[in-house]
Amino acid sequence: LVLIVDYGAQYAQLIARRVREAHVYSEIVPHTMPVAEMLARGPKAIILSGGPQSVYAEGAPQVDAALFEAGVPAFGICYGFMAMAQALGGEVLRTGQSEFGRTVVTVDGAGSTLLGDLPGQFRAWMSHGDEVTKGPIGFAVTASSEGARVAAFEDVDRGLAGVQWHPEVLHSEHGKKVLERFLYDIAGARPTWTMVNIVEETVTAVRAQIGDRHAICGLSGGVDSAVAGALVQRAIGDQLTCVFVDHGLLREGEAEQVERDFVEATGVSLRVVDASDQFLGALAGVEDPETKRKIIGREFIRVFEKAAREIVEDAGTHGESVDFLVQGTLYPDVVESGGGEGAATIKSHHNVGGLPDDLEFSLVEPLRALFKDEVRQVGEQLGLPADIVWRQPFPGPGLAIRIVGAVDSDRLRILRAADAIAREELTAAGLDLDIWQFPVVLLADVRSVGVQGDMRTYGHPVVLRPVTSEDAMTADWARLPYDLLEKISTRITNEVREVNRVVLDVTSKPPGTIEWE
Ligand code: XMP
Repeated sequence: LVLIVDYGAQYAQLIARRVREAHVYSEIVPHTMPVAEMLARGPKAIILSGGPQSVYAEGAPQVDAALFEAGVPAFGICYGFMAMAQALGGEVLRTGQSEFGRTVVTVDGAGSTLLGDLPGQFRAWMSHGDEVTKGPIGFAVTASSEGARVAAFEDVDRGLAGVQWHPEVLHSEHGKKVLERFLYDIAGARPTWTMVNIVEETVTAVRAQIGDRHAICGLSGGVDSAVAGALVQRAIGDQLTCVFVDHGLLREGEAEQVERDFVEATGVSLRVVDASDQFLGALAGVEDPETKRKIIGREFIRVFEKAAREIVEDAGTHGESVDFLVQGTLYPDVVESGGGEGAATIKSHHNVGGLPDDLEFSLVEPLRALFKDEVRQVGEQLGLPADIVWRQPFPGPGLAIRIVGAVDSDRLRILRAADAIAREELTAAGLDLDIWQFPVVLLADVRSVGVQGDMRTYGHPVVLRPVTSEDAMTADWARLPYDLLEKISTRITNEVREVNRVVLDVTSKPPGTIEWE
């Protein structure tokens, strides 16, 4: 285990992912966690992340020097680097000499464990206003840049090192190597976090949690719940029943596809529940996005509870109750829902935040520690088909959060038709794997004037929202070819009578989110 201490930048998650890409398990902890608590977790190493503040700023998070005296290897990045310098007797000055973005780093790496045999100069991504002017006592200074007299230092005997730049971002050359040198050569970590081990460890943990009792798993059609279900099935076999809830908010053909692909791949016992009337009834007239999510989360649970009772009645469990509910919660959900301290709750993802207080199940969350790319690799390891493993993410609340305004069956029909066209054309253009996600959004309460076949129309706009992303935490709008956009636009306005305008969303995340609600 490597702990990433989060000083409040967005970089902590990226660092955690890079460390895992080096096959070392990592977790993020808040900087407010007492050092004794961090050490009690027995970390192989601790990495101090970047952060938005100056180490001099009022209330700036400080590093307890005890962290460096415990014999646990530590690595400071940007803010963590400066905080480390300050705590260990170096000098950090407010020079006003800031560096943002790509910066040339000059390495003086003779004999350096961290930077030895890297080129004498390379480009690295910087973001700092203060400057370390003197390395801590006993440390070798191994790099500098124009705005940072001390840009890297190390004391290999004590297992301590740091860099001013951000090795975790892709714009930093040799970033992966620098992190690996710290992990393997300074901290002595071993690359044991592999897919085979993840599967084995998770299966063991799930078995220990559930024992010989029974669980149900809600399948959403997405990769997360599919992998969660397949993992739990591997752990407990036919003590698991999967339930696929057709909440009426699915895309065209989705229910049938999930049924076919998933059962074929896993042989799991699957129940399909058509609950569209129940969901649409509960959603009638509701416009507020968070309320929609809460309602959908609540109804989901009600359906699961009912399905669980039916499974017992049908003696699928030989009369024993179903006590566990499997959820495909991912690590970024946990962090984004405020699971990590200091991270604001941005949206309450129904699979984390929106569960009712009187839940009758204990939760089983086999993916709680994993990033999306790891989930996909686990899926491949488990032998799930590429169609499931590489499916674009689709939110649990489905099309309900892609209709801006109240949800009803008419609006769903319109959106479903437009969405099916967009998906079909994207696939035909061979771009499925280049796009992270392609929401189509119906602005149901907006109407605009158009002209179709010499007739004045007064219809609705749909928004195309194709994005590229690595993990949904940040995203960029996808530059789809104009020809493709034109084809989608023409087909939608021709084939979906109620839509007379197709617009393209060119907002990145942040400031936008991927979904419109
Ligand atoms: P945003 O819109 O926050 O979305 O940029 C990030 C990712 O999360 C998905 N998403 C959800 N998934 N329940 C889910 O299961 C939800 O309530 C929910 N809201 C957003 C979204 O599709 C994107 O992949």
